[in-house]
Order: sequence, then C-alpha cells, then structure tokens
Amino acid sequence: MTAARQGLILGIESSCDETAAAVVREGRETLSNVVASQIALHAPFGGVVPELASREHLRAVVPVVEAALAEAGVGFGDLDAVAVTEGPGLPGALLVGVSYAKALAFGLGKPLIAVNHLEGHIHAVLLEVLANTAASQKQVSGLASQRVSETDHADDRVLGASTHISLRCGAPGDLLESGQPLLALVVSGGHTHLYLAQIQNGVWRYRNVGRTVDDAAGEAFDKVAKLLGLGYPGGPWLDALAPFGNAGAVPFSFAQIKAKVHRRGEAGALDPNEATYFSFSGIKTAVLRYTQVHEMEERIAARRAALAGMPEASPKRDLEAVRALCDRETLDLIASFQRAVVEDLRRKTFKAAERFGAVGVLVSGGVAANRELRERFAVEAQAQGLPIAFPSLNLSTDNAAMIAAAAWPKLVAGEFADAALTADAGLKLGV
Ligand code: KG4
Ligand code: ZN
Repeated sequence: MTAARQGLILGIESSCDETAAAVVREGRETLSNVVASQIALHAPFGGVVPELASREHLRAVVPVVEAALAEAGVGFGDLDAVAVTEGPGLPGALLVGVSYAKALAFGLGKPLIAVNHLEGHIHAVLLEVLANTAASQKQVSGLASQRVSETDHADDRVLGASTHISLRCGAPGDLLESGQPLLALVVSGGHTHLYLAQIQNGVWRYRNVGRTVDDAAGEAFDKVAKLLGLGYPGGPWLDALAPFGNAGAVPFSFAQIKAKVHRRGEAGALDPNEATYFSFSGIKTAVLRYTQVHEMEERIAARRAALAGMPEASPKRDLEAVRALCDRETLDLIASFQRAVVEDLRRKTFKAAERFGAVGVLVSGGVAANRELRERFAVEAQAQGLPIAFPSLNLSTDNAAMIAAAAWPKLVAGEFADAALTADAGLKLGV
C-alpha cells in the first residue's frame, strides 16, 4: 500500500474531442476541473475529425494542465500521482494524453496511473456520491436507509445531489462500500454499456452485462439531429427541442436483437443467457425514412442553411430561434425519437438491475445529461425502491475529474502503469 501524502491526483483526459485536466483529492474532492472543448472545431464537419482532434489536443494539453493546477492552487510537486485515460477512444487523441502524462510522471518522479475511460465515467458518479456523503456525515447510514418506503419523497432515493432535478443526498457511502453490486449504464457518443460494479477489498471490479450491437445511443442522437438539419453535437439540441413536440406522435419500435446476435456469433464474452443488447441504428434509419415519406427534405435543407449562418448557436442561448425553424411535424418526430430511446434504455437497464440483484443504479456518460432520461429513470427507480445516481451535468460529458477519481483506489492499491504504457483504442472494461 502506498502512503499518499495528500491524495492529490492530476487526471488527464484526451480520448475524443475534449482536452481535460483536473486535480482531485482522495477520489472525492474536486479542486479543479478544466475542459477545453473542441466542439466548435468539429461542428462544421458534423462530427469529430480524428486528425484535427489530435492536433488540437497537442496544442491544448499543456495550457489545460497548467490551468487545472492553478485553479486547484497546487504545484507539480504537491501531486501524488498522474492519471491518464489509456482507452478506449481515438488512437491519435489518446496518444497525446498518454505521452504527455508519461513524460510528466517520469520527469516528476511520481507514479503514473492508467484509467479506462468507461471506468472514468462510472467514477464521475461515485466521485459526487462520496463528496456528498462526506458533506452529510450525520445522515443515517446503511443500505436499509436507502430503500424508500412508499411514503418517501422520490428525491430521497437518488444518490447524487447535484443534478438539475435538485436531489437530496442520502447516505450512499455505506452502500458503495457494502460490496454489493451496482448496475452502471454508461451511455455516450461512443458507448452504450451495462456493467455490474462491485468493490472488493478496496478495488472496483466490473462485469460487462450489456452493450450495443451497432450505434451508441449518443451516436443515434447525433445522427438524427444531423439528418434533421440540426447542429452538432445533436444530443443537447434534441433534448432542448423534445419538450415542444408530442412524444406519442410517431410510434417507433425496437427489434428483438438477442437471437440475431447469437446466430451471427457476435455475442463476444457476454453470457448469452444474461446479456442485454441495445441497437440504435434501426431507429436512425426509421427517422430518415419518416422524413422521406413525409416529404420533409425541403424543410430540412432550409433549416440546415439557416443554421449554417449561426455557427455558434447553442441550445441554451438560441433555443427560441432554432425552435422557430422547426415545424410541428419535426418537433413531434424529435420528441418521439427521444422518448423511444429513453424508454428502451430505461426498460433494459432496470430489467438487468433486477436480474443481477443490483442494490443501486448509476447512469453516466454524455447522454446521462438528457433531461427526459433523468426524469424517467428517477421515476422508475422510485417505483422499484432502488437508489439511483447521475453525475452533475458538467461531469456527465467527458472530463478529467472522473479520471483522477477512478485513479484514487489504484493509487491506494499501488496499481501503477509502467513505461510501456501506450494508448489502447479498443480497451475493454472488466470481464
Ligand atoms: O461522454 P461524452 O462527452 O463523449 C463520449 O465518450 O462519447 O458523450 C457525448 C455524447 C454525444 O453523442 C452527445 O450528443 C450526447 O453525449 N449528449 C446528449 C446530451 N448531452 C450530450 N445526448 C442526449 N441528451 C443530452 N442532453
Ligand atoms: Zn466519454
């Protein structure tokens, strides 16, 4: 076991289109969290351009790390370790972070810790749960206190405190340390995965129990937004526009995937009897077909042209202007698409939680920022009497605080990377 002086870890994340650095103490206290987003760079292309991403990481990594240290009020000498995202992600983008972190750790004579990006997303939730636990020591502890009686308020069962739904904090620390399994849904632009996460002797273990067989949910949001002439990334735009449409207007259905995956021998390491599969490429095609059948092409082209003149448009600032570019049929289509995706995620996640006897549910990744998803998952959790936690919005999307937080148990356990560490674009999490 390594004696960490202050438990200060510098986290570095560069797996996709965000260059991020953060300083976190003991996996629970965020001293700084700096994210340099490349959204404006990639937006004109309607998606991330890998070469541009690597070059931008190279330019940004030093100033971003310096900003994270300055914001935290610490120097390089105060750090106990440097943690970096090893994978999965874009190879060139990952390589920038890994090379920089290796050189920095070597130069400082500090341990280097490699973190799986997906484990990072899970720790974005755990970080806040632990921070909130520390801030509310006097709350009743124990798993039993997390179960809600029928008369309790819904907010009581949500583990994280800092989401837009304004949730009261429970006493999840004991729940996390109980060693009982939690079900984690990691849902982002690159991933839609279900994991059973369990702490054993201070080390988190993961078992992959579900995944998408084609597109990730966030990818479907981005592609549907793009084909409707809306901006990139599409998730935040659809999230903002969906409340103005009728979610029951267009019935979407999801095909049975399981049999097909096993027939084609694509099950991978998942247990065929237990695995949960998602598939989001069909709904994207269904949306495209709907726009063709309903002759929406001209309206889409007009919207795309209007938005091309607003390259800086954001869902927060420009919602009214963009909503005015969407007719009722488009708003209904958006609302119906989002409802279908959220309901599919909700149904399968809670079914898996039940199957594996999970004592709580964690939802993380960019799509976890979606308001309808948070609301519907929270309602289901209440109905099931299961605690649930989401990260606050700025920790839902890619950041480095989650990387530094995931590295803390590894620092305590002395699980360090060596000089051979390199980027692993296809890195898997758990068994
Ligand atoms: O976790 P993240 O920042 O990067 C990956 O690891 O992929 O997730 C980005 C994804 C994008 O697909 C984006 O459209 C989606 O998360 N996203 C959302 C929302 N905010 C971001 N999807 C739905 N609703 C949102 N509010
Ligand atoms: Zn991510």
